[in-house]
Amino acid sequence: MKTGLNTALDPTLRSTDAQNFELALRRKIVGQESAIEKVAEIYQMFLAGLNAPSRPVGNFLFLGPTGSGKTRVVEAMAESLFGDPRAVVKIDCAEFQHSHEIAKLIGSPPGYLGHRETHPLLTQEALNQHHTDRLKLSLLLFDEIEKASDALWQLLLGILDKATLTLGDNRRVDLSQCMIFMTSNLGAGEMNELLNGGLGFAQKPGHMDSRMDEKLTRTAVEAARRKFSPEFMNRIDKTVVFNMLRPSHLEQILEIELGMVQQRILQATGNSQFVFSCTPSVKSFLLEEGTDAKYGARHLKRSIEKNVVFPLANLVATGQVKLGDFIRIDRTADGRMTFTKEAEGALVPVLLEKYGQEGAAATAAARTSRGRTKEFGASPLLEKLG
Ligand SMILES: Nc1ncnc2c1ncn2[C@@H]1O[C@H](COP(=O)(O)OP(=O)(O)OP(=O)(O)O)[C@@H](O)[C@H]1O
Ligand SMILES: [Mg+2]
Repeated sequence: MKTGLNTALDPTLRSTDAQNFELALRRKIVGQESAIEKVAEIYQMFLAGLNAPSRPVGNFLFLGPTGSGKTRVVEAMAESLFGDPRAVVKIDCAEFQHSHEIAKLIGSPPGYLGHRETHPLLTQEALNQHHTDRLKLSLLLFDEIEKASDALWQLLLGILDKATLTLGDNRRVDLSQCMIFMTSNLGAGEMNELLNGGLGFAQKPGHMDSRMDEKLTRTAVEAARRKFSPEFMNRIDKTVVFNMLRPSHLEQILEIELGMVQQRILQATGNSQFVFSCTPSVKSFLLEEGTDAKYGARHLKRSIEKNVVFPLANLVATGQVKLGDFIRIDRTADGRMTFTKEAEGALVPVLLEKYGQEGAAATAAARTSRGRTKEFGASPLLEKLG
């Protein structure tokens, strides 16, 4: 043992695991810095084993406008930690608005009619199903909590406080290895009014500075305090108010979503992996159709599916697009989407094998940093194709 030391320590340092986790989230989530910081902080605490015993690992309340990433953050965490965005136990509180529906969650007592037929959602097995040898952590999401029935509230209060739950048949569920997320749009209407003076959704540039963000945050938190009991609010470890997404955020989200489609195509089974790129005019159109101030990025995926994925799927199904092709997607002045084969060849699988995921990522990165077909050559995958 050494004594008499005077070594300064750095408590802001994060472990590699926590850093990687944070980085992975940053690649997927745009414009929600405070959400990322807060979940990373709790995750680091969990890794260090310092979270309070007999409580959930962390209780989060996510507030803010629709389509701003509240649910996406939880999915992105599942993706980063377990490689699967669906590794989340998700409870839609709107489905439990009547107190008797609670049986769907916890099952009904033995002897009740239908006891055997109910398979409760919130069992220990359900919570633990994604655990790995390395990581015994569960993600539990309660969406739209403002719609929960009284019975569900009582259940929630117990979980948030003691991290235990008793099922209908008296089995105990331990939730001390759970991160619990609750989302609500509460206050989103008032946030919108604040932004637009109730004049609809015309966005005023320069209106969206950080002071505005602070004001919006306060509005949402006050709305939550008015609606939810102090009992509930006191059990929350971190409240995050999601920001309204700005047009520049939405542009970045479009790049991420297109990158995800490209990845999907490159990982598709069968022999039809190919590369596509969208011209700036296609991107503007997708943004126009898929995003707005009111719904954030909520409809972006739908717009991409409709205008990009379905047509591409048709081209593949009819044999017009084949392995290793390079397809350029453009839009004519009168608004028609055009799909042009600019290169064909069987190079992609060879390169995929060589570059694997990175090849796909490079494709997305090339698009993000340049965004133009001509300059696509920067990607190793495409260099060989050209
Ligand atoms: N900040 C963001 N970063 C990256 N993608 C986002 C972000 N916000 C929204 N998206 C995209 O928009 C989709 C819808 O967002 P999400 O489901 O997270 O909205 P939400 O905030 O949960 O809205 P709601 O309150 O209506 O449930 C996501 O699946 C994702 O594709
Ligand atoms: Mg949501």
